[in-house]
This record gives sequence, C-alpha cells and structure tokens, in this order.
Amino acid sequence: MGIMSKRLSHSTKYLNLVAATYKNSKISEEYRTLRTNFLSSIDLKENKVLIITSPNQGEGKSTTISNFAISLAQLGKKVLLIDANLRSPSLHNSFRTSNFVGLSSVLLGKTILDEVIVETETSGLSLLPSGPVPYSPADLLALSTMGILLNKATDKFDVILIDTSSALEFADAKILANYGDGLILVAQWGKTKNKEIAFAQKNLLNSIKILGVIINERK
Ligand SMILES: Nc1ncnc2c1ncn2[C@@H]1O[C@H](COP(=O)(O)OP(=O)(O)OP(=O)(O)O)[C@@H](O)[C@H]1O
Ligand SMILES: [Mg+2]
Repeated sequence: MGIMSKRLSHSTKYLNLVAATYKNSKISEEYRTLRTNFLSSIDLKENKVLIITSPNQGEGKSTTISNFAISLAQLGKKVLLIDANLRSPSLHNSFRTSNFVGLSSVLLGKTILDEVIVETETSGLSLLPSGPVPYSPADLLALSTMGILLNKATDKFDVILIDTSSALEFADAKILANYGDGLILVAQWGKTKNKEIAFAQKNLLNSIKILGVIINERK
C-alpha cells in the first residue's frame, strides 16, 4: 500500500548508519529514493510528527528510520529522531551517545527537553535517546507530558520521527498514535506475514493515518 512503499536491502557488512557512512552506496541511494517518494507524496507541514512501528520485533524499524532520518537531514531538513522504544532502545548505540538521560527522564519530569537532545554527526539531525528503561513504558508514554514535549519539539524541527516498539505485541505505538500526524509501518521481506501487516494496520487505523509500508530486506 501507499506511494512510499519501497523494498530496501543491504548487506550486514555495512554499519547501521549506512546513509551517513557510505553515502554513495546502493543502499544509501535506495534511502534517497525512499525520501523522494516520501516527500513527493507527503506534505511535511501537515505531517510533522511521524510514528514508526512494525508488526513484530526485530523487523528493522530502528535501522530503517535512522537511515531515513539521515537522508532527510542531508536534504536540509531539521529532523528530530526520538527513541520511544522504551522496551528495547537502540538508537543511542547506533549514534554512539550515552543513554543516562533521555525521553523517559523528560517524561518523569527529571530534566527538560533541551538538556537531553543531542546533535548527531549528520548536520540537521538531532537525537532524543530513550533514557533509562522505565518500569511501565506504556504508562509513561500515555502521560500528557508526551504531548507537551512534542508540541515544543514541533516549533524547532521540520519533522519528528518516533521509533517505537512492535505494534502487535505492545500498546506503545497505538498510544503514541494519539500524538502523531501519520504512521509508517516497517515490514521485513520474507518474514513479516501479510496478515500481520493487515492486523497491525487495522489495529492502528482508527487512531492515525497510515502513510505507507516500507519493506526492509535483510540479506
Ligand atoms: N536491511 C538490513 N540489512 C541487514 N541487516 C539489517 C537490515 N535491517 C535491519 N538489520 C539488522 O537487523 C537487526 C534488527 O534490526 P532493528 O534493530 O532495526 O529492528 P527493530 O525493528 O528496530 O527491532 P526492535 O523491535 O527490537 O526495536 C539489527 O541487528 C540490524 O542491524
Ligand atoms: Mg528498534
């Protein structure tokens, strides 16, 4: 579904942030094509807060959205990538930053947003790491402070990409859908079943507009 559906494939010999480290590689070109498809079909002024999920764990959400975020920033967009997968956070590792404070710390009122957003090596791309894994991720994400945080962030960034946990297993993506303008589903080629994609879509459809499905191929 969706104009932005795109099958991406890259070999495991590349780093997670291939779009930054191997700008001329075939896979970086694929991320740029994805970016082009995305920007030609979606108005960023109306779709500023985007949620990324997949039906199951490990289907490539974090890898796909990190590279997509890099390719958007390379075009001059001001991008904030938020690691809202408070169950299995990974973006601090990919971007090699610490995770002592982050989203969970802001939601708990322990610090403020400006203190925890980090600049990445890609100009224009900022990261909000997850912060410490909380006892009850879904309850934390449901706090009204999440909406306040996103309102503040939309003043400063052109687009906010929110990485979440898997949609069929956890309520997080559905909770975050309340704050988002659109949702992108990531599915893994050869692994994610059609009925799982359909089920995830059905489950989320009432809460948010589904912008498209990205098919990620692991080799
Ligand atoms: N296209 C790809 N080619 C090769 N390896 C990939 C590809 N996409 C993801 N991977 C690898 O697969 C693993 C899982 O990917 P990733 O962490 O992006 O999935 P995820 O959906 O975010 O997982 P989780 O549900 O745990 O958050 C990682 O080790 C990642 O490096
Ligand atoms: Mg992940």
